[in-house]
Amino acid sequence: MSKKLLLLPGDGIGTEIMAEVEKLIAFLNESRKAGFSYETGLVGGAAYDEHGIAISEQDMEKAQSADAVIFGAVGGPQWDNVPYDKRPEAGLLRLRKDLGLFANLRPAICYEALADASALKREIVEGLDILIVRELTGGVYFGEPKQIIELGDNENGKNQKRAVDTQVYETYEIDRIARVAYDMAMTRSKKLHSADKKNVMISGVLWDEVVREVAVDYSEVEFNHILADNAAMQLVRNPKQFDVIVTDNLFGDVLSDTAAMLTGSLGMLPSASLGAPDEKTGKRKAMYEPVHGSAPDIAGLGIANPIAMIASFAMALRYSFNMIELADEVEGAIAGVLADGLRSGDIMQQGCKKVSTEQMGDAIIAKLV
Ligand code: IPM
Ligand code: MG
Repeated sequence: MSKKLLLLPGDGIGTEIMAEVEKLIAFLNESRKAGFSYETGLVGGAAYDEHGIAISEQDMEKAQSADAVIFGAVGGPQWDNVPYDKRPEAGLLRLRKDLGLFANLRPAICYEALADASALKREIVEGLDILIVRELTGGVYFGEPKQIIELGDNENGKNQKRAVDTQVYETYEIDRIARVAYDMAMTRSKKLHSADKKNVMISGVLWDEVVREVAVDYSEVEFNHILADNAAMQLVRNPKQFDVIVTDNLFGDVLSDTAAMLTGSLGMLPSASLGAPDEKTGKRKAMYEPVHGSAPDIAGLGIANPIAMIASFAMALRYSFNMIELADEVEGAIAGVLADGLRSGDIMQQGCKKVSTEQMGDAIIAKLV
């Protein structure tokens, strides 16, 4: 089985955390004969500086032909004023859209050792294991029109504009993400919440209708509707009532950041973005990325938490390469180093040992030996 990766470290701490993945790949190739090969490319501000665009055609081609893309993070204040269509995030959005990565899996697991690192009380988050299934190629992120229109001056001589984003979903888009969520629920505790704003948004009405229709094929799964604002509140009030939450692109973006904090730090949350299985080969296009951003404030200091990045690579082992045992081992190694008391700055607790990005990566690899 071909195991060709494209590594796109991106900006800020992206390069530092990706270096830890490269170490892990080298280790797995050496010790487990894992057979990974990889190319690297530029995305985000790094691509803009080199090519004047957030991802080059050449790197898009590499992404199309890779078995999996491993993505770091994009963005930073130095690119705040680049044209909107060339901003760092545009590279990430193009990858998602052009590779058809509609299904974004964002697991939020509270490791036992970190139950006290969360901003929430231990009893609220201890043992937490939820999965947010976010629709990733539709909704307001990509809907057209998306524009600012000049309206001229009003009666006071003040220039007026109108900004439009479009929230749009078609049946097939909701149907396919719902099926991913139900399939996931079937492998877990068979409980699904679907979050929308059908009390205000007509796209929410269709969302709910379609998700309920799909339910017919999954009679074993307990279905619950929840309004997205209530979901945000319930996530901090009593997150363990959830198992799988399926939601649209924008609500998924927001709810997954909330879920991240339940686990102790945004630096802990991995994600997998999957396309539809190829009709002939059954293979899905896939990209794996931490949920956190490029953290420009700590970039270059060697103190970033590489766990979300390494856990994203573990998701690649699981979902793209069916290396389930190895994925379990890597995730176990992460739990192990945390149990040993190693902490990056973002999850530092009293009595623990503060380590650098590299030391954390090394310690995780050492657990695999
Ligand atoms: C995420 C990020 C992205 C998003 C940004 C960087 C465009 O916040 O993956 O959650 O909004 O989807
Ligand atoms: Mg986000």
